[in-house]
Amino acid sequence: MFVAAAAFAAVTFVVAYLAEDYLVGIRISDQLKSTNSVAVSMAPYLNSSNSKKMYELAEESSQKYGGRFLVLNKSGIVQVDSFSIMNGQKLAYKEVSDVLLGSGDTAYGFYEIDGSGDDTFYAVYYTAAIVYNSETIGAVLFSDDIQDVVDTTGDFVNILIIICGAACAVLLLISLVFSGYITRPINELKNVALSISKGNLRQRIRVTGKSEIAELANTFNTMSRQLENMDRQRSEFVSNASHELKTPLSSMKILTESLLYQDGVAESTYKEFLGDINKEIDRLNETITGLLTLAKTDSEAEALTLSKILLSELVYKSVTALRPIAKEKGITLTYNASSELEIECDALKVMQAVMNLIENAIKYTDTGGHVRVTLQKSGSNAAIVVKDNGCGIPEEEIPYLFARFYRVDKARARDTGGSGLGLHISRKIALLHGGSIAVKSEEGKGSVFTLYLPIRS
Ligand SMILES: Nc1ncnc2c1ncn2[C@@H]1O[C@H](COP(=O)(O)OP(=O)(O)O)[C@@H](O)[C@H]1O
Ligand SMILES: [Mg+2]
Repeated sequence: MFVAAAAFAAVTFVVAYLAEDYLVGIRISDQLKSTNSVAVSMAPYLNSSNSKKMYELAEESSQKYGGRFLVLNKSGIVQVDSFSIMNGQKLAYKEVSDVLLGSGDTAYGFYEIDGSGDDTFYAVYYTAAIVYNSETIGAVLFSDDIQDVVDTTGDFVNILIIICGAACAVLLLISLVFSGYITRPINELKNVALSISKGNLRQRIRVTGKSEIAELANTFNTMSRQLENMDRQRSEFVSNASHELKTPLSSMKILTESLLYQDGVAESTYKEFLGDINKEIDRLNETITGLLTLAKTDSEAEALTLSKILLSELVYKSVTALRPIAKEKGITLTYNASSELEIECDALKVMQAVMNLIENAIKYTDTGGHVRVTLQKSGSNAAIVVKDNGCGIPEEEIPYLFARFYRVDKARARDTGGSGLGLHISRKIALLHGGSIAVKSEEGKGSVFTLYLPIRS
């Protein structure tokens, strides 16, 4: 509005100025011509000092051109005045001296005249030299008011102001309607954002049309859906975690109480129960360690400590670390690297992921089985394959394997221990490196877990 009003004002000002200039220019050139022609006719009368004729001509011209005519002699003294007021007075206007001293044939100037009452008006004084026999013998002074031109321009400006005012009003109306149209959805967006920030994560914005605002609203809805999702996951996680922590505690409680409130319990029973309690403590420990690792991987998601490492060496170290456990369980653990494969990665995290897979393979394979670890190149990836001939996984369970706390056989998992966090953490590590984990498994026959890591970082 402000810009438009300023533009209108500028246009009004310029147009008024140009119009006035133009109208005044036409008027002046006309009247200078008239003054000059009167001066030509006046020359012989002034030369012969024929006052009567001079007066008649002044009077006549006054009637014809509508102003006041004066005839001055060489010294600027009024000889004749068509209004008969200034006879004999000396006029010292600049326009008069200009023509009398010969610096020009004609001249003019503007004067502000105090009229009757308060009103002043603008007049123009035109002078023309009276030349007789190539000699300047006097001057004609013609004065006429130019207020009509000034008034015309004023009227013109008034009309322009009215038009511009009307245009501004229309503009205001349009901009009000449009700004309402634009701000309404923004206001809605703001209200929903406010409501979400207060915890109402289910809020969504109604999206209409295809404008940028609609796009923004869509993005916003996606964001709040994501927020709601995260919130749900968080509360699910808390309840899962509490459950996982509570289960071993309840077992321990039952075991201790049954010992406490029984008399004459055999030492072998004590030993057995304490052994069970010890297992539960291990489980609790494992779950808590898993939770801590998970929290760490989450918070360090952005900060991988990258270094160039030989993958074959890393896998070798993982296998070696787990060999005693395999041996204890009577499982053959073999490692075969078909290439060295140097990659850039966070060595500690990758090692943890690899060890989780090997640990699982050992854990879910019976005595006498075998676990084969191989390292190979697979396209642009390094593939660490962990293959076992253990219990395998039912096909319908495979999609859930990587969920937090998920274990296929809960009852069995009690004996084997474990928190159900291992695969979740491993996959997270793989994803952080731009890789993935693939599973192939057949129930009763064995499983193949493959960790893919991109060779180029
Ligand atoms: N090599 C495997 N063979 C059979 N089942 C497996 C194997 N690896 C993982 N699983 C199944 O996937 C589940 C999730 O594994 P994981 O996240 O490592 O948890 P955990 O080992 O603590 O139970 C395991 O409980 C197990 O049921
Ligand atoms: Mg595990």
